[in-house]
Amino acid sequence: MTRSAYTVPPIAAERLPDLLRAMPKAELHMHIEGSLEPEQMFALAARNGVALKYPSVQSLKDAYVFNNLQEFLDIYHDGTMVLKTEQDFYDMACAYLARAQADNVLHTELFFDTQTHTGHGLSADTVINGLYQACADAPAKFGMTASLILCFLRHLSEEEAFECLEQALPHRDKIVGIGLASSEVGHPPEKFARVYARARQLGFRLVAHAGEEAPPAYIWSALDVLQVERIDHGVQAIHDAALMQRLAQDKMPLTVCPLSNLKLCVFPTLAQHNIGRMLDAGICATINSDDPAYFGGYINENFTQTFAALGLNAQHAYTLAANSFEASFIDASLRQRYMHRLQEVFEGFS
Ligand code: HPA
Ligand code: ZN
Repeated sequence: MTRSAYTVPPIAAERLPDLLRAMPKAELHMHIEGSLEPEQMFALAARNGVALKYPSVQSLKDAYVFNNLQEFLDIYHDGTMVLKTEQDFYDMACAYLARAQADNVLHTELFFDTQTHTGHGLSADTVINGLYQACADAPAKFGMTASLILCFLRHLSEEEAFECLEQALPHRDKIVGIGLASSEVGHPPEKFARVYARARQLGFRLVAHAGEEAPPAYIWSALDVLQVERIDHGVQAIHDAALMQRLAQDKMPLTVCPLSNLKLCVFPTLAQHNIGRMLDAGICATINSDDPAYFGGYINENFTQTFAALGLNAQHAYTLAANSFEASFIDASLRQRYMHRLQEVFEGFS
């Protein structure tokens, strides 16, 4: 049954939080380094003999107060210093996959970057092999599928992005797509036009962060210059009616991260978040956790808090879950299987 042909059965409002948690879903915007919980960070620091800036787990957690993206990125970068070996990357990814499984995530596409780690003297091979092994083990270990999206760091140069792509090429078959992350304002998508064109030639699927903090122009150029297939965040599109229409018409997915937006002060409160308006405008929005260890919740927490704040209903829940499978880079037969499981859960709640 196709998505549009499915009618959501009546579901009592008080059962909505349980439905949100039980509902099969895909997570498409999650930076694996942003899933490193303070406890695991301290354990890895001890294992690898790395000194942390904070004396305790609690003092580290207390530092997770951010006024904007850059303040977060600085702390996030410090946290990555504890990762040294293939095993570390494997363990970090498995810890996330276990949490995702508990949240009924059936498929995830994990962002990672190699430039952070090669900047600390690790090889790209160490990063990619560790993460890939976790993704390869995901079906047997966690009953889900997982793939990898390599992000260029946009505060670095085009030349460095080309170098990053080159280092990943021996691992071409372990990586589904290319993304663009890090400090957005001042680093527009067009800075990476040529390296995205090269990635497209190599057959990578393309996504980019755009319109998290920066204006709609960044979303237009991600679409028209980089020719991406999904926009990560994209919430600033609301300020441009023509862009909203374009996104809806093209069924261009947005991977929205409500708790991230709250923590980074993109919206003052969740009640002011625009994801409800995006859905009402016919945009293919999805809900994701971005950097859950830093932003106060994994994907189900994003769903339950956002639904409570905005008064969204079971129809919105179904649309968001269906959008997540629609927007993912899985093949048609797997998508159909996952959609079937989604509808079974909805039937079970009726
Ligand atoms: N935005 C941009 N870059 C990032 C983010 C984010 O939310 N998280 C990790 N890298
Ligand atoms: Zn992100």
